[in-house]
Amino acid sequence: MRVLSVVGARPNFMKVAPIHRELQRREDMHSRIVHTGQHYDEKMSDVFFRQLAMPEPDVYLGVGSGSHAEQTARIMCAFENVLLQETPDILIVVGDVNSTLACSLVGVKLGIPVAHVEAGLRSFDRSMPEEINRLVTDCISDVLLVSEQSGIDNLHREGVSPEKIYFVGNTMIDSLVSCIEAARELSTLKDYDLHPGSYVLVTMHRPSNVDDIGKLGTIVESLKRVAANLPVVFPVHPRTAKRLHSTGLYATLASTPRMILTEPLGYLEFLHLMDQAAVVLTDSGGIQEETTYLGVPCLTIRENTERPATTSIGTNRLVPLDARRIVDLVSKADELRQQSAIPPLWDGHASSRIVDILESRRWEKTAEHPSLDQENAQQPSANPWGHSR
Ligand code: UD1
Repeated sequence: MRVLSVVGARPNFMKVAPIHRELQRREDMHSRIVHTGQHYDEKMSDVFFRQLAMPEPDVYLGVGSGSHAEQTARIMCAFENVLLQETPDILIVVGDVNSTLACSLVGVKLGIPVAHVEAGLRSFDRSMPEEINRLVTDCISDVLLVSEQSGIDNLHREGVSPEKIYFVGNTMIDSLVSCIEAARELSTLKDYDLHPGSYVLVTMHRPSNVDDIGKLGTIVESLKRVAANLPVVFPVHPRTAKRLHSTGLYATLASTPRMILTEPLGYLEFLHLMDQAAVVLTDSGGIQEETTYLGVPCLTIRENTERPATTSIGTNRLVPLDARRIVDLVSKADELRQQSAIPPLWDGHASSRIVDILESRRWEKTAEHPSLDQENAQQPSANPWGHSR
């Protein structure tokens, strides 16, 4: 069976790496990886391939940044050519980024069965681009691989046929489990002069938090107040860095005592900092899950979460964007460690369950390939990974 997996943005790499590894272990499976290039920096992409021991992608589309429409359209055009050449038996897409939506649409229209990893998650907030990506991808995928109970409930409520739905657990946790020991051996804390359990780790990149100058200002004010009590480490996402610089707020943060601003960190360095933090302050999706697994308190500056197991079972709590509340909750965050648990099937074996499912069924093409004018088809961008397809 030939399986083609898509990665595009930073949170995809740790979800696909363990699936690819598991596919390679099985004799009858053949695994290839396409990288759309939605994220393209060394620090947003390449370092993850190295640290997760993933091979270079077999195909690199190099689409880069753009508006949602531009980025999605560029991925679709380039990926269609790839799929017509690769003709896999099944296509794997993960998560909720623009690459997930774009590639699942192309796959389905070419009649290739699509498996969606992390299916069924819902924030019920359609102003989030990721929510639209999740809804559309789930609606058109053939296999829905679910990471937590809410995903099953949501898909049932939406009337999805039960035989498409599989509760497999969380592949991001597979990567965490296999990397945490290596992460703990690093010198990351020493490098930043930090002590275990006595610093706050921050990530912030959601458009809803960082694109609006008023909200960004409140975040900066909150972090300044938090840093009055504990060192704050803040690896700054490129979207946030641009906004902080253009609004002059970067200088305010940089001049705050005990505030450590860094570029985006590698997977292992970030895991190490997360594992030893007193509390993590974030608006990310995946970090809510990773902190829950590690038992580290997490305050999520959002009005909703598509990962409710992290608040009902784990160490996560939603926090309004209000400086006083944030400082107060950071000081009480230790309470979140009590009575928290790891959600079912977050055990490091989700990828092996996924590959079992893929192996156990005969996947039929769902439509005829529509004819494509090959002469007019664009060729994918040059491959900076240095080898041809
Ligand atoms: C994307 C995902 C989001 C995910 C996040 C993790 C969508 C809709 N959003 O958001 O779900 O949580 O990735 O990082 O797919 N940039 C760089 N270098 C890079 C990548 C991006 O400088 O390697 C810049 C871009 O030029 C752009 C900004 O960062 O201005 C945002 O990048 P983009 O991929 O559009 O969205 P994210 O905010 O990263």
